[in-house]
Amino acid sequence: MPRTAIIGTGFHVPERVVTNHDLAQWMDTSDEWIRERTGIEERRWVEDGTTGAEMARRACESALAQAGIDADEVDAIVLGTLSPDHFFPGTGVFLQRELGLDGIPCLDLRAQCTGFVYGLSVADAWIRVGQYRTILLVGVEIQSTGLDLSTRGRDMAVLFGDGCGAVVLQATDEAGRGVLSTHIHADGRHAEVLWADAPSSVGHPLISVDDLEAGRQYPRMEGREVFKHAVTRMPEAVHEALDAQGLTADDIDLLIPHQANLRISQMVQKRLGLADDRVYNNIQRYGNTTAATIPIALAEAVEQGRLRRGDLLCVVAFGSGFTWGSALIRW
Ligand code: UT7
Repeated sequence: MPRTAIIGTGFHVPERVVTNHDLAQWMDTSDEWIRERTGIEERRWVEDGTTGAEMARRACESALAQAGIDADEVDAIVLGTLSPDHFFPGTGVFLQRELGLDGIPCLDLRAQCTGFVYGLSVADAWIRVGQYRTILLVGVEIQSTGLDLSTRGRDMAVLFGDGCGAVVLQATDEAGRGVLSTHIHADGRHAEVLWADAPSSVGHPLISVDDLEAGRQYPRMEGREVFKHAVTRMPEAVHEALDAQGLTADDIDLLIPHQANLRISQMVQKRLGLADDRVYNNIQRYGNTTAATIPIALAEAVEQGRLRRGDLLCVVAFGSGFTWGSALIRW
């Protein structure tokens, strides 16, 4: 059975930089509060009219160029997002159209912050059974257009950024290389701890003037509750993956945790006993880009030469749903 290798990485973030000081002009917050509680210094937000598909196309083109393959070698697209360009048909088909890849399957999946890990799990299974050989796996979000920029929404608005990361996955027979295993979970008992109530198909209409006035279209979170679960589930998921492979945390060359809060990443790092140079964080510059955080960080880490052939890469995520998961990849 072939394994799944990551043969190219790419990312795209909007040019517009929004600093903590910018946010402090629109809501009652401060650079100090945001840095201290989250580690975030700035984030990228799209200009009006930018689409997720457009950002995704740019990230995919970089990933394909790095892989050294043409777009027409791609057999399928798997795309994680909680902020689709349109409620339906999502974002993937628009990306497919932009890449000129008519006919190949496009799967948009949710799983929020765990979207990339869920997508990797699905794509890896497709590749291992031989259904597809080359897959574009994308995480893309436009969060900025859905945030409450008044003080009412400050707990969420300061956290999120826009951007896209993409990888090219391809079947390989090279011994020891590729995805070793993926481990994905969910617990819907906590669905409303981090969610957007509207628009909702349960409502009639999908969204009402009352909903808008009450701000039900904005994401809401019980931050401390999410934090508590994240710092438990993420190390647990890493250990699950290591145990499945008969490895230990010492074997990890690079850990890329989902970028939700620098304090969460640091606690996960501490629980795993990893030195600073074995963990990649970039939340300081991009905030939380949800499904895009891991592939953006991975693309940056590759650019910086942080991964060498044979290294053990671990990715781990936790987020809305709750969903969480991990994967081990031999680079
Ligand atoms: O990617 C999905 C997963 N998401 C996460 O993992 C996020 C997990 N949660 C967190 O990262 C943290 O809980 C937050 C960063 C969201 C919040 O940090 P916290 O230390 O848990 O603060 P808190 O929510 O307990 O709020 C503390 C205080 C409150 O004021 P009072 O009630 O103590 O007077 C908030 O109203 O901070 C206030 N506050 C703010 N102040 C300035 C909340 N947001 C802000 C803000 N600026 N942006």
